[in-house]
Amino acid sequence: MTKIAVVGTGYVGAVVATSLASIGHQVVGVEIDRARLESLQAGIVPFHEPGLSELVTAQLEKASLSFTDSYETAIGGADVAFLCVGTPPSPDGSPDTTYVENAARSISEWITSPMVVVTKSTVPIGSGRWLNDLIADDRASVVSNPEFLREGTALNDFLHPDRVVLGSNDPGAIATMVEVYRPILEQTFTGGRPDLRPGLVRTNLETAEIVKYAANAFLAMKISFINEVAMIADAVGADVTEVATAIGMDQRIGSSFLGAGIGWGGSCFGKDLAALRATAHRHGVESLITGAVVAVNDHQIDFVAEKVSKHIDLAGAEIALLGLAFKPGTDDLRDAPSLKLARHLLDSGATVTAYDPVVGAVSGMDDLKVAPSWRDAVAGADATVVITEWDEFLSINLAALAESMDGALFVDARNAFDAAAATDAGLSYVGVGRAAPTS
Ligand code: UDX
Repeated sequence: MTKIAVVGTGYVGAVVATSLASIGHQVVGVEIDRARLESLQAGIVPFHEPGLSELVTAQLEKASLSFTDSYETAIGGADVAFLCVGTPPSPDGSPDTTYVENAARSISEWITSPMVVVTKSTVPIGSGRWLNDLIADDRASVVSNPEFLREGTALNDFLHPDRVVLGSNDPGAIATMVEVYRPILEQTFTGGRPDLRPGLVRTNLETAEIVKYAANAFLAMKISFINEVAMIADAVGADVTEVATAIGMDQRIGSSFLGAGIGWGGSCFGKDLAALRATAHRHGVESLITGAVVAVNDHQIDFVAEKVSKHIDLAGAEIALLGLAFKPGTDDLRDAPSLKLARHLLDSGATVTAYDPVVGAVSGMDDLKVAPSWRDAVAGADATVVITEWDEFLSINLAALAESMDGALFVDARNAFDAAAATDAGLSYVGVGRAAPTS
């Protein structure tokens, strides 16, 4: 059992703190936002993440987890402090590290015994070094331990990761961290999968820091790549989903993250690509691939919008959007393709009504209507566009949907539906990069 402080209990911090408590550590989460602190102390997680509220409540009851706004309480006597504060993007794309610096200063103020300080937030490459200098205490060593949590499956991703990456210039600090992760590395906790042990990468600070950026940039690149193939497939009358299946069978390529659609969104990919580009630029390296990955993703919104405008005049059209969240299983709208497409359609003179099973309202977009059900959203619509492949949508009776629309255009911007079934239901089906029976 290790005494752990988790500084910052936003999305990453809440998952890290609760998971570490659940595998046997004594964890204190530090949160200076009063509303969030009181919510977590009451066992209420202020965002949507399956299973997290239940696990927080269970760990609070076992007293293995607590939350405080006092650095003194959390840091004094802790063996390890995880930095999980936000690193929002600066205007040039590089992450703003003010919160990381402030947290590090507070740690240096309250440190009482040897401690490992872990960067879990996605910090710019090179941060570990200046953090070591900033804390300037012989008792503290910095370890970079990037997180690979996906929203919607974050607990599972933390407890059953593919790999644990630990970067430090202090072998003793890495050894401490191996002990922290031992139940996960050996999958010995209740519910562990000893047959699926994660890999362990021990490396230096800079290498661990770049791993996070390289992993996300690569995943975004796979998606942009297949989206570009989708454009070509549409042009020549091929089916990109079958292309993806076939190339994914090559083990060197792999089948995941080859789903063509409206493009990637969320809090990580865009931010991490911008940060990697900014770092490359600062060091005089031209990052051609990351630029292309972003450009293809931006263009994907126009590509989907054209699938609507090719068939109906956008000015005065009634368009229903199914899904707002950037992917199923989350209520997150950061960098959501839905909002970019909605803006495009609204600016072209269309009326847009969206429905999402989890997102009830969109702040800052007063002209976007949000309906309480998919039936309300599609009633009288000239076109329906599926943006997020929620399970709820996959079980929609397409004949009933076709019946309540005014028009028949059904743009499946996630290739989530069976084209033939949609056509049989009376819809005019258009996918992304699929040989569309109606076009
Ligand atoms: C991502 C990384 O997967 C995770 O390891 C990292 O820690 C944080 O960033 P997340 O942003 O939660 O996680 O979502 P992810 O499941 O990776 O999806 C990102 C976006 O790509 C979504 O908008 C999704 O719809 C899109 N996507 C994903 C595709 O368009 N096609 C695919 O084949 C897969």
